[in-house]
Amino acid sequence: MKEQGSSPRVRKALLADLSAILEIDSLSDPMSWTGDAYRAYLSDLPGTCGLVVSDQAGIWGFAVARRVGDELEILKIAVHPQRRGQGLASCLMEELEKTARSWGAPAWILEVRESNEAALALYRKFGLEIRGRRPGYYADQGEDALLMTGVLPASRLND
Ligand SMILES: CC(C)(COP(=O)(O)OP(=O)(O)OC[C@H]1O[C@@H](n2cnc3c(N)ncnc32)[C@H](O)[C@@H]1OP(=O)(O)O)[C@@H](O)C(=O)NCCC(=O)NCCS
Repeated sequence: MKEQGSSPRVRKALLADLSAILEIDSLSDPMSWTGDAYRAYLSDLPGTCGLVVSDQAGIWGFAVARRVGDELEILKIAVHPQRRGQGLASCLMEELEKTARSWGAPAWILEVRESNEAALALYRKFGLEIRGRRPGYYADQGEDALLMTGVLPASRLND
């Protein structure tokens, strides 16, 4: 079990963070990604974003996103089960919002399982709303995905 450490901070994810990311993903998502799927997001390539939130005890959460047209698409966000409910995903979302602004992307978008109450509440907190449904999207259980989008206030773009 990891011990809790100093106050958390968000930084760009590095290839060296891959094993921690894979561990959190495997504890968080029944359709976890492979290491190869993550590599592109840990290499600071244009139009991609990988973030981790960590403290002195280690890495507790991560997010990966990409630019698709004028939108930032959140592909993954997860927090270690021991540290949920402490604002860590909110820290990651704030940094993703800054990334969208730095890309000049006026909107963000994602898919979420309709049963994922915690994630739905997190996204609503950041102004995303349900705009559509993708029936049977998740191959493991055939659950529907909800498509959520949000528009960043124009006044806050390119801050
Ligand atoms: C969804 C997840 C990333 C939230 O991480 P977290 O660090 O616990 O989230 P935060 O503490 O920043 O909470 C942010 C908001 O989410 C909501 N929330 C968080 N956990 C919740 C829960 N268990 N039930 C209901 N709402 C919840 C609250 O609105 C909270 O805002 P508040 O603290 O101002 O009330 C985390 O539960 C997780 O990793 N889940 C498994 C992976 C996953 O489902 N990822 C999303 C895939 S689309």
